[in-house]
Amino acid sequence: MQISVVHKKAGELKADLFIVPVAEGEEKKGAVRELDASTRAVVEARIEKTKFKASVGRTLSVQTPDGDVVLCGTGKEKTTEALRAAVAKGFGAAQTVRAKHVVVAAGAAVASDVAPLVEGILLAGYVFDRYKSRKKDDEPYKGPARLTLAGAELPSGAAGSKHIERVRAICESVCYARDLINEMATVKTPTYLAREARKLTRGTGIRCDVWQGNKLVKEKMNGILAVSAGSSEPGAFIRMVYRPRGKAKAKVAVVGKGITFDSGGLSLKPAKSMEWMKQDMSGAAAVLGLMKAVAHAKPDVEVRGYIAAAENMPGQGAQKPGDIIKYRNGTTAEVLNTDAEGRLVLGDALCVAAEDKPDCIIDLATLTGACMVALGTRIAGIMGTDQKLIDTLIRHGRDAGEEMWQLPLAEQHYMEDIRSWNADIKNVGSGYAGTITAALFLKSFVGKVPWAHLDIAGPAFAESPQAYAPKGGTGFGIRTLMSYLAAF
Ligand code: BES
Ligand code: MN
Ligand code: ZN
Repeated sequence: MQISVVHKKAGELKADLFIVPVAEGEEKKGAVRELDASTRAVVEARIEKTKFKASVGRTLSVQTPDGDVVLCGTGKEKTTEALRAAVAKGFGAAQTVRAKHVVVAAGAAVASDVAPLVEGILLAGYVFDRYKSRKKDDEPYKGPARLTLAGAELPSGAAGSKHIERVRAICESVCYARDLINEMATVKTPTYLAREARKLTRGTGIRCDVWQGNKLVKEKMNGILAVSAGSSEPGAFIRMVYRPRGKAKAKVAVVGKGITFDSGGLSLKPAKSMEWMKQDMSGAAAVLGLMKAVAHAKPDVEVRGYIAAAENMPGQGAQKPGDIIKYRNGTTAEVLNTDAEGRLVLGDALCVAAEDKPDCIIDLATLTGACMVALGTRIAGIMGTDQKLIDTLIRHGRDAGEEMWQLPLAEQHYMEDIRSWNADIKNVGSGYAGTITAALFLKSFVGKVPWAHLDIAGPAFAESPQAYAPKGGTGFGIRTLMSYLAAF
């Protein structure tokens, strides 16, 4: 897709479809005025006739002699997220008419609106169709060949294209993460994730280490080994290190849970709960996607990506309830439920991340069903040891349309819950506050490094389509983290 910015009114351009984001109460003002006079007259008549109200998600399609127009409501507030959702609706209209050239009448939009405008289109156009059999002329519409943002206040020229290429690279990374999440578990084994890490870092200057087999034993990566023991697929630990050319303004570690399939292990899940468990590596997918985006954007921050990958199966040799894992930082953990495996593999990765002495650690994990009970499918839980880091991430998440809500890391109340009678800690609590006890388990491995934990069990995966994410993996976290890194 060719994407460009022009300092013209939309009405001066030719297109198959004009997407016009409009705020509620400004239906006949704003960007509608940018259309040429005759088109505008037709559109205004339709607004009158249908009493169109531009609330969030509402659209009005109008056919005119000079091309189709779709008004996309952003509601009264016109937040960046409303803008994304509005443009995504516009993408739906483009899909219907299979538009080749789409113009977004951006009106008074400014530089910071470029990202949501482009993201709304590029992310809505994601399709996972690698396993669909199709006749030749039945290709899904994946977007226009040309997309033009028309607005007098938008950055144009070199600044404009730099802006666009940054957003495009981020969207491609999000879609890459979605591909990984949507891929079947039998294909995307821990070894496959390791191969992807090598592939995406090759030629970028990003260092990539993969530990498997004996190296995991030598390095005492006993959480990954314990979980992998029940599977014929060997586990893997992956580390990717990006260093900026100049002096790094900070050193940020990002850790992802990479359970490529979670059957529950011997504490086997019921069939229904297993249906989507190929998505249990969404944290790892976010880390891989992030490193891909970092390779393009080259932030002034050292970024270290870590992945703990394993397949959680009940096969021969599987770990058993009552087993005890000794971690490389000395902590011992009793495994009472093999389905609480995410925290077991993350323990290893957090130890290594902390040993590398970063300024902060951020982990992403589809860790607990309890988090979905608390916050649903659209909001991630966030907990940690550094309030400033947590607040910053929540703020960047809000801008990115990736919502997070802090839960208390109430050590004084709930640490009791995960004390073991014969080891330091155990991997399940009382059954209450499951998201918090999971986070407290992780806290044992981060030492004194400021740390934030994102429980993305809900938003990592869309069980039904969302404004700009079709059903399946969403790539949650990447855009928030890219925004966070760019702010240093
Ligand atoms: N991967 C699951 C959590 C999950 C559940 C993610 C549903 C996405 C959707 C995790 O490994 C798990 O099984 N957690 C258990 C923990 C329990 C055994 C303490 C859970 O949430 O039931
Ligand atoms: Mn599990
Ligand atoms: Zn899991």
